[in-house]
Amino acid sequence: MKKSVMFLVFAVLTLFAVNTAFAGAECPQKRATKKAPASLYSKDETGKADAANGKAIFEKKAKPMACKMCHGDKGDGTGKLGGALKPKPRNFACAETMKDVTPGQMFWIIQNGSKGTGMAPFKTLKDGEIWDVIKYIREELMK
Ligand code: HEC
Repeated sequence: MKKSVMFLVFAVLTLFAVNTAFAGAECPQKRATKKAPASLYSKDETGKADAANGKAIFEKKAKPMACKMCHGDKGDGTGKLGGALKPKPRNFACAETMKDVTPGQMFWIIQNGSKGTGMAPFKTLKDGEIWDVIKYIREELMK
């Protein structure tokens, strides 16, 4: 009995490792996200934003779920819950996919979500907190 349990644990761990190894970041990543209204698309209020608070939001504070659960610790779209989603969470580390994604575009999607995808609106975040998390993503996770 004990041996079979150990085997099962081993098998599950192996599967997990293999799965993680192959669930690599997609780049370039296809992007069909709707464009923010023009006035917001070109808006950028990250100048005075707080990247350290943004990191805390990204990694744990955001409700109902931290951004990293889907976007991954490194923001490359490989978070634990991201694998099952179609389309996949945005890979912020992929410069080619991110080239037209302005701070204002990010703000719009974080506040309103991307309809028909796993990206839900984050109504619990105040405007300032959204700029904080955008600053963190742009400074630390984008390449
Ligand atoms: C439940 C999974 C999930 C969580 C949690 C999540 N996202 Fe996303 N996110 C997605 C998916 C899926 C997409 C891709 C949407 C699309 O293709 O239109 C996405 C896309 C984005 C984009 C790209 C917008 C664009 O125009 O390309 C930004 C920015 C973003 N998310 C920021 C965040 C931030 C910040 C948080 C935390 C406050 C967060 N996300 C939490 C799943 C998630």
